[in-house]
Amino acid sequence: MNIDLAMEQYFGPKGVVLPDQGTTYRLAEPGITAQIKLAPGDYTHFKFTAVRYDLEPGASLDLAASLYAGRMLYGLEGDGEIVLNGRRRPFPEGTFVHVGEGHHVALANTGAAPLQVFSFVFGPSPEARADLMTRDLDGQLWLEITDTLRKVFGLVSREQAAALPDAGKGELVYLLPNEGPSYWQAKPSAGFVEVKLAPFTSNVHHYGVLMQTLFPGCGVREHGHNQLSEFFVISKGLARAALDGQEALCPKGTVIVIGRNVMHYWANAGETDAQNFAIVDPPGVEGALAITGRLRGPNETWPDDIPRNAETGKILHDRFGFVIRGNAADRTG
Ligand SMILES: [Fe+2]
Repeated sequence: MNIDLAMEQYFGPKGVVLPDQGTTYRLAEPGITAQIKLAPGDYTHFKFTAVRYDLEPGASLDLAASLYAGRMLYGLEGDGEIVLNGRRRPFPEGTFVHVGEGHHVALANTGAAPLQVFSFVFGPSPEARADLMTRDLDGQLWLEITDTLRKVFGLVSREQAAALPDAGKGELVYLLPNEGPSYWQAKPSAGFVEVKLAPFTSNVHHYGVLMQTLFPGCGVREHGHNQLSEFFVISKGLARAALDGQEALCPKGTVIVIGRNVMHYWANAGETDAQNFAIVDPPGVEGALAITGRLRGPNETWPDDIPRNAETGKILHDRFGFVIRGNAADRTG
């Protein structure tokens, strides 16, 4: 049995969710709108939820601590603060936070513009459950976190979380923009990959997170993944992406769902850098790009001598399950 071929016989889902698409709802806290980008059951094999929170200037949001679910937060736009277990820290655009089980988190918009934050929850959570919300006379959906919901979903206060034993808590990762290991990439995907969460950076091994920056005119060639799913948020610039040959223009804030063996490429379609924030489930891609790239130090410029040869495609295929038609990864230029 050829297990490579066998692994390529299963196909995951695919989809593009544009920045203004998704079910919108409000919370009891004033000045906050939420938009569901990925709800449970939307796409087979995607076992987390994604919501974008928009906080008006001055607004704050208590996301509680979850006993049963890990959460990741990514600052898409604006400038704010995050309060982790009661400790205030800056939350500028591009900040990444992994809030493991038992850690309390709150957000505040301390800037003059709206603060947009993506929230991804791996486990039970009410925040993408439109079926638990109520609709008012104007047709607006509201999510009220009742005591029953708190109990069902294991949501606890900062004081309750503080009393929990540390041994039972998940990983807490807080990375400002440019923090974490980063790797230059060769042409045609000239730019760099920042690894925010990987089995080699944290004690989390069931998903990974990377951010890939492509310089203007650059792109990632078409490929698939025979062992994992990817979930992109275009986090800077303007991208062009295709899923099984169907191309879409993807402005900042677009979500791209890439299931197992869905052939895809993405490229910078603008005049400035384009970036994606990618969740890889299970991890793999971030390790591949670390191995085929070159460690990027502070204040360095892009090195034009990273080898891209037959070894690159072989590593990507043999070790990380990339599906690359016609050996596209090994072509130069
Ligand atoms: Fe990919």
